[in-house]
Amino acid sequence: MADTTVYRAGTTAPVNIAVVKYWGKRDAKLNLPTNSSISVTLSQADLRTLTTASCSTTFTEDSLTLNGELSDISGARTQACFRELRARRAALEASDSSLPKLSTMPLKIVSENNFPTAAGLASSAAGFAALVQAIANLYELPDSPSDLSLIARQGSGSACRSLFGGYVAWRMGEREDGSDSKADLVAEASHWPSMRALILVASAAKKGVSSTSGMQQTVATSGLFKERIERIVPDNMVAMEDAIHNRNFEKFAEVSMRDSNSFHACCADTYPPIFYMNDVSRAAIRAVESINAKAGKTIAAYTFDAGPNCVVYYLEEDKEAVLGAFSETLGSTSGWRAGVGSQSGVLDETVAEI
Ligand code: ADP
Ligand code: DP6
Ligand code: CO
Repeated sequence: MADTTVYRAGTTAPVNIAVVKYWGKRDAKLNLPTNSSISVTLSQADLRTLTTASCSTTFTEDSLTLNGELSDISGARTQACFRELRARRAALEASDSSLPKLSTMPLKIVSENNFPTAAGLASSAAGFAALVQAIANLYELPDSPSDLSLIARQGSGSACRSLFGGYVAWRMGEREDGSDSKADLVAEASHWPSMRALILVASAAKKGVSSTSGMQQTVATSGLFKERIERIVPDNMVAMEDAIHNRNFEKFAEVSMRDSNSFHACCADTYPPIFYMNDVSRAAIRAVESINAKAGKTIAAYTFDAGPNCVVYYLEEDKEAVLGAFSETLGSTSGWRAGVGSQSGVLDETVAEI
């Protein structure tokens, strides 16, 4: 009898906010970066993507519904994720003929972000990490987070880092086929349990220039960018890993702020220039500076992705000074508070029908 079962599995995946930023591709097809990067994975209690993946012979074609709307999946990056995951499932099916032939069935992906999409809060990171993890769960793949990060990277570069919790590096790699361009763990979340993030939403609107397009314009036209990838980022990578290992917040904060400034300077040096930050973003920078001046030491660090929204890292013991200052200066801004969180995984409440 024909198998008409609907097989289903799900996952949540976290946002990660880089403290040494990825900006630039050396190979757009394989999504290989011009530099390594480091991020902090935020707690999924606050910001997360929830994705379910199903497959069945009764479905007519592959589809992705994002926040209730059918999304275009014809792009090479989503197709690369589907292709790689299907190939891994097909290999399992070839070695065990009792397994249902899920690799040949159309896939239906349904995904929701509980935070603004395409607004510089890493929706592509949580989104593609969740897509890859949900399909890997559906296919019962034995691959490690590091193996899956190779696939997620092809969906969106920053997504490779959301396969891990804690402090995560994306090593740019050297090989032309990209097989060494993947994420690895710098430190578990528990290594530095007092780290917190304050997410300030200056605007939830979709950005004018996507990350993909913005970084390609920077690579093509910015002179400053060469200095960034040859000297600034390699130095920041070493300093940041050291700061994390030693739980040195002042160093962590200085490198985060300098790296964010360097990235946005390269955006301004792009021709024509790209401006992701707005007046509220700049007010947030000034607020962090005055918090640190008042404290007499660095207790807060700002960083901005490709959008106007500010993420402030601080330690739990300084929460009164940091949160108090923000409620005074930026009272009308909405946002979240988050700890450092865990990797994407299997949803307990989801029934996998395999
Ligand atoms: P962001 O700063 O939010 O990461 P990007 O410009 O990098 O913005 O990417 C936004 C794009 O990522 C969206 O237009 C969409 O194509 C994709 N994306 C966002 N969320 C998801 C999701 N949950 N599942 C699949 N793709 C997603
Ligand atoms: C500024 O990963 O969104 O957030 O690989 O083209 O999908 P694509 O770009 P994306 O770029 C992220 C840029 C950043 C910095 C970072 O997350 O490291
Ligand atoms: Co993105």
